[in-house]
Amino acid sequence: MTGRKPIIAANWKMHHDHFAAIQFAQKFSYLLEKTDYDAVDIVICPPFTDLRSLQTTLEADEIPVALGAQNCHWEKDGAFTGEVSPSMLAKLNVRYVIVGHSERREVFGETDEIVNRKVRSVLNHGLIPIVCVGETLEEHEAGATVGKVKGQIAEAFAGVNPDDVVTCVVAYEPIWAIGTGHNATPDDAQETISVIRGAVSNAAGEDAAQAVRIQYGGSVKPGNISALMAMPDIDGALVGGASLDPEDLARIVRF
Ligand code: 13P
Repeated sequence: MTGRKPIIAANWKMHHDHFAAIQFAQKFSYLLEKTDYDAVDIVICPPFTDLRSLQTTLEADEIPVALGAQNCHWEKDGAFTGEVSPSMLAKLNVRYVIVGHSERREVFGETDEIVNRKVRSVLNHGLIPIVCVGETLEEHEAGATVGKVKGQIAEAFAGVNPDDVVTCVVAYEPIWAIGTGHNATPDDAQETISVIRGAVSNAAGEDAAQAVRIQYGGSVKPGNISALMAMPDIDGALVGGASLDPEDLARIVRF
């Protein structure tokens, strides 16, 4: 890793209500020291309904953990029943938004074009997208991983100003590794993430590619994080299941 600050993000998915979120933040902060926060950017992406409570707790107790959302709409307001806009998130001091998670793509039909709209909108509202890419098991077995992630990166960043791409985070999450207990090996994750960095270079130039932080996601646990983080292109992790437990997340942050 060259000059890129590690970033560990918790994706709680549809877990932990706002009471649980407050308890989590208090327990988690008790486990960490200032040096941990200095060394790693920490982001918690809870369900929308937790954001206000978590914001209040983090700010009142001066816990240097950034808030993230798991999704948003691309418009700033309008007749979009059930949706939440980036400007609403910005008002809650949300800093990051996960965009194009494979569960959004697979369960809710998000296309690369929608992902691109969301990336541009999130950036236009001064927020940082965590852009998720990754291949299915079938694509993995067919040797189609490189083509898949290259295409996803090209489309996600199409028309995005390279100065904005510099601020972005990308998460490589092989779908077959999500929630399965089978993480990609550090070498395999490194290989694909270096391809992703090359794709960012094609989309936005080499400066952007060197600045973008790229996370690995998929069955990250306290026991496998350090080997992943030892890889030169892996700048952090997007953690699902293990991020629900404050002790596990603290151990991951202290890789
Ligand atoms: P798990 O860590 O539970 O495999 O989930 C990964 C993920 O999808 C994070 O966004």
